[in-house]
Amino acid sequence: MNGHGEEQETRQTRETQRTGPPARPRAVELALGAMAAQTLATGLRLGVFEAFRDEPRTAQDVAVECGTLPQPTLRLLRALAGLGLLREDSPGRFAATGEGAVLREDRPDSIASFVHVFTDPAMLRGWDRLDDSVRTGETSFDAVFGKDFFTHLKENPGLSARFNAAMSQGTRSTAELLPKHYDFTGFQRVVDVGGGDGTLLSAVLRAQPGLHGVLFDSAEGLAQAGAVLQDGGVADRCTLETGDFFRSVPAGGDLYMLKSIIHDWNDAQCATVLGHCREAMTEDGRLLIIEPVMPDTVPHEGVAPPYLSDLNMLVNVGGRERTRDDFAALCREAGFAAPTVTVLPGNGFSLIHAAPLR
Ligand SMILES: C[S@@+](CC[C@H](N)C(=O)[O-])C[C@H]1O[C@@H](n2cnc3c(N)ncnc32)[C@H](O)[C@@H]1O
Repeated sequence: MNGHGEEQETRQTRETQRTGPPARPRAVELALGAMAAQTLATGLRLGVFEAFRDEPRTAQDVAVECGTLPQPTLRLLRALAGLGLLREDSPGRFAATGEGAVLREDRPDSIASFVHVFTDPAMLRGWDRLDDSVRTGETSFDAVFGKDFFTHLKENPGLSARFNAAMSQGTRSTAELLPKHYDFTGFQRVVDVGGGDGTLLSAVLRAQPGLHGVLFDSAEGLAQAGAVLQDGGVADRCTLETGDFFRSVPAGGDLYMLKSIIHDWNDAQCATVLGHCREAMTEDGRLLIIEPVMPDTVPHEGVAPPYLSDLNMLVNVGGRERTRDDFAALCREAGFAAPTVTVLPGNGFSLIHAAPLR
């Protein structure tokens, strides 16, 4: 760039600092969203965030560590800085921001697996056919892959382990909040149906000494659970049971917990799973579904994630997010009384709690 260009660029930088970034139509911002997600996913896959380890690095350092070329790496790092995940402190020298630091795999608050999975072709290829799903109501994932989502996970153990870790990372805040907002006293045996790697059940058992847990899932869902329960110090109070909740669920629990399970399935499938919980529970048993409860109309301030999750369920698994009335209907159909709903503060999930109909 010649001297005149640099002068102009400095003027533009000063102008941007004074007035803030240019306002763009919302649709333009959204149209660039797929490129932003791809930039983030690429940074993650190449190991850019791991390269920082709490200290500033040059693009050259990062390129050596990631096995990439310095010049394109500088461009990638600048794009990541533009997205707020890195900060360029002096030309070519970067540090991770707080938002970028949680993309490191080794942190207890890491969200790296969540980002890996939600930017993986397994999650996105069905979205290429969202229009088909909207026209026909069909699950596009099945048309693209020739099998359903959970069968695909079963056949890909690496992706399945990532998925389990992603679910665990997405469940951390609920695991922290649930014991503070639900009274587990009086229960003897809680069954976590589709409990994945046990992140939620482990937190519940830690908070309630004396409570016994049953973690129920498919073999691949449970693959990492032993280590999680061991690390949580609750392995001696928790039994792992492998099975298919469309056939049955473990009997004799007095609390059946289902977090992020119901939204994966259509109403008839949910009736089957909840019906099995109803049959399996003790006389005084209870049902606890943990999911977002959708309002009847979209709030005006616009809260995209639950609505994007709803479309994700449409294209990838054939499920949906539900309103309070939808949950009440599902409970009634499966032999439960009208549920109470308690919102967990700040994380978008609610506790949908029901007793059997007598
Ligand atoms: C969306 S994940 C939720 C995991 C966990 N409850 C959480 O919220 O982090 C759905 C879980 O259902 C399990 N699952 C799917 N189909 C199942 C089936 N037929 N029987 C038992 N578990 C199943 C999956 O393996 C996975 O662990």
